[in-house]
Amino acid sequence: MSASKRIVLSSDHAAIDLRQTIAKHIEAKGYTVTDIGPTTPESTHYPKHGAAAANTVAKGDADLGIILCGTGQGIMMAANKVPGIRCGVCTDTFSASMIRAHNNANMLSIGARVTGEGLALEIVDAFLGTDFEGGRHATRVDMIEGDA
Ligand code: RB5
Repeated sequence: MSASKRIVLSSDHAAIDLRQTIAKHIEAKGYTVTDIGPTTPESTHYPKHGAAAANTVAKGDADLGIILCGTGQGIMMAANKVPGIRCGVCTDTFSASMIRAHNNANMLSIGARVTGEGLALEIVDAFLGTDFEGGRHATRVDMIEGDA
């Protein structure tokens, strides 16, 4: 297991079931989960849920975040507006591992209308199970943050 153990989850209405499935899956693996909802199925606005999870990570109240909407795209865009957040949408396990290893992503986004439950759980496992490699990749991540 990665050293990053506190995970915040959020989604919009399109991904409540998959988000709750992911929460149970990672809790069973020993992660500490903060699921900030929503819990009711009314239509809602993905930017506020992406920003809420991103702010939780940016403040240091969670090590990593997992966010979901229909495509994973809109909520990812909202999360990446928060300084210090590096969030990628993943539809495959290789990318989920590489955004940790090379990009030091601190948030993962998944599209519940794109990715089925079984693959989504494997994507989550790949993301949480991979650590940042540092080295030359740290220079590049610093450039993303505007420090190089
Ligand atoms: C909601 O209908 C949908 O637009 C949203 O879940 C997401 O896919 C946006 O990127």
